[in-house]
Amino acid sequence: MSQKTLCIATRNQHKTQEIASVLAAYWVVKCSADYPEMEQLEDIEETGDSFQANATIKAIATSQIVPDYVLADDSGLECDALDGAPGVFSARYGGIPSSAEKNNAKLLQELARVGAMTPEQRGARFRCVLVLAKGGEVLATFDGACEGKIILEPRGLHGFGYDPLFVPRTYTRTFAQLTEKTKTSLSHRGLALKKFIEWCQANPLE
Ligand code: IMP
Repeated sequence: MSQKTLCIATRNQHKTQEIASVLAAYWVVKCSADYPEMEQLEDIEETGDSFQANATIKAIATSQIVPDYVLADDSGLECDALDGAPGVFSARYGGIPSSAEKNNAKLLQELARVGAMTPEQRGARFRCVLVLAKGGEVLATFDGACEGKIILEPRGLHGFGYDPLFVPRTYTRTFAQLTEKTKTSLSHRGLALKKFIEWCQANPLE
């Protein structure tokens, strides 16, 4: 694969960091904030009812403005005891202005409210959808999921978002207690990125 420029369509620096660590070997990785022309675009409204729909909205809107290939990430957490919430509302679950602290506090509160206090009742998964686009056209879509459970109180300082509350299946540590490298080797985002890299190897881009 030759070194082309890829714009990660997000203003979430943690996501950009995780994605850039994996893709830097293949691409020159930039993010939306690196393009002055993106300032003309108002905040992209994520009005879709699925990760796929929202990733597609972000990929198309961004690739209509930036000249490079664009990869948009939409991701979030689904809890079985909450019928899939917070889902597409993961980023703002605890209210606006949003913060990870408020989101995590709301998640713990909601799980307690529905009486989900045992590990068996606290099953959850992270999902990630990546959409590759150029010039306003979607070229391909990749997804990844990571099963696990939500613990009773936050542990760990790495990562972002719900990481301190999420223990992946077969692990005892939270995502926030793992190194970025280990998290990426099993995470929803890492799995979707692996599919993206394999696709690029099979479909060399101009
Ligand atoms: P998005 O920017 O609309 O895709 O929001 C994704 C939200 O889901 C983030 O703000 C986090 O709250 C949550 N999220 C997605 N991926 C992760 C992850 O890898 N760790 C922790 N939280 C995540």
